[in-house]
Amino acid sequence: MTTKAYIRGLGYHVPEKIVTNTDLEKIVETSDEWISTRTGIRQRHVAAEGEATSDLAAGASRKALDAAGISAKELTHIFCATCTPDEACPSASTRLQHKIDAAQCMSVDMNAACSGFLYALETARGMIALHPQSKVLVSAAEVMTSRINWEDRTTCVLFGDGAGAAVVSGEKGDDGIELVDSIVEADGQHGDLLVMPAGGSKIPYRLGDVISEEHFLHMTGREVFKVAVRSMVDVCKRILAQNGLTVDDIDWLVPHQANSRIIEAVGKKLQVPTEKVFVNVDRFGNTSAASIAIALGEGVESGDFKPGQTVLLTTFGGGFTWAAYLLRF
Ligand code: ACO
Repeated sequence: MTTKAYIRGLGYHVPEKIVTNTDLEKIVETSDEWISTRTGIRQRHVAAEGEATSDLAAGASRKALDAAGISAKELTHIFCATCTPDEACPSASTRLQHKIDAAQCMSVDMNAACSGFLYALETARGMIALHPQSKVLVSAAEVMTSRINWEDRTTCVLFGDGAGAAVVSGEKGDDGIELVDSIVEADGQHGDLLVMPAGGSKIPYRLGDVISEEHFLHMTGREVFKVAVRSMVDVCKRILAQNGLTVDDIDWLVPHQANSRIIEAVGKKLQVPTEKVFVNVDRFGNTSAASIAIALGEGVESGDFKPGQTVLLTTFGGGFTWAAYLLRF
């Protein structure tokens, strides 16, 4: 029998600074009307100068540890899901470990772009199966605005910064959320549709380089839209089927918060009533790996997610990567 795994505490943290669509009108040729009708986004949080991914992760992680009643010294593993680490090396997770004064445990970053939180949750569940006494901190944090070209209106309006965190253990505690089942997948053939081309080993920085568009995120928006909807709907149908469930058994669908049109299309194709589809993209924009972690933290804080409920998470991101996760509160 495999060991069960539970989320024991959740937390989220976003930078103080808020940038509204109207603020963006002063930077690029855009409008509140264009952004809100095409994406549902009204504002996003943006990190201050010097505010790094691990700072946001630390804020969220402290709250998750408090909620779990578990000390950072008890942690056995720290996973930080991010595609915007503080530095290429060392990992954001080791920076995070130091900032929260955690035990000298395994600490590693995980880059699955927007799907990173569910990839890291899956890895935490695997660790608990291997070492049932594990206490795993899963943090998902991004400073997406550090890799955005603020002159490119097709991308700069979409993203925001933030972090969410979950503490996962093999013990249920008082109100642990069970990680029931998952499907976590990728298809690398679509890598160029959502990419930060330069600054890695393929196109490295060289002394004297002028920073160019290649150093920032590029996206083929329409293609991403189509594959995102198709993949999330497909993976949700499969996870429901393999657990003998229908959408009627789901109390909440929590999709990756990229864009309200993608969220609506996924909800509609799965025939989940609108009131059961969790949306906060209007206030945070697309925070990539952090988006579902923030949504979970918010949903628990607001009392939307209640004990006894079954919650279906689904995500999609660069790679492409995608996943579905079933939780029982
Ligand atoms: N403000 C005003 N006009 C804009 C803006 C903007 N911010 N951005 C693009 N436009 C213009 C374009 O230049 C174009 O003008 P043109 O017709 O004169 O050439 C017009 O609007 C239409 O542009 P499209 O890119 O075709 O717009 P589309 O309807 O496809 O919407 C969007 C763009 C919202 C990005 C859409 O493709 C989408 O939702 N894609 C999904 C991708 C996504 O959300 N990715 C998130 C990151 S990936 C992830 O998280 C998994």
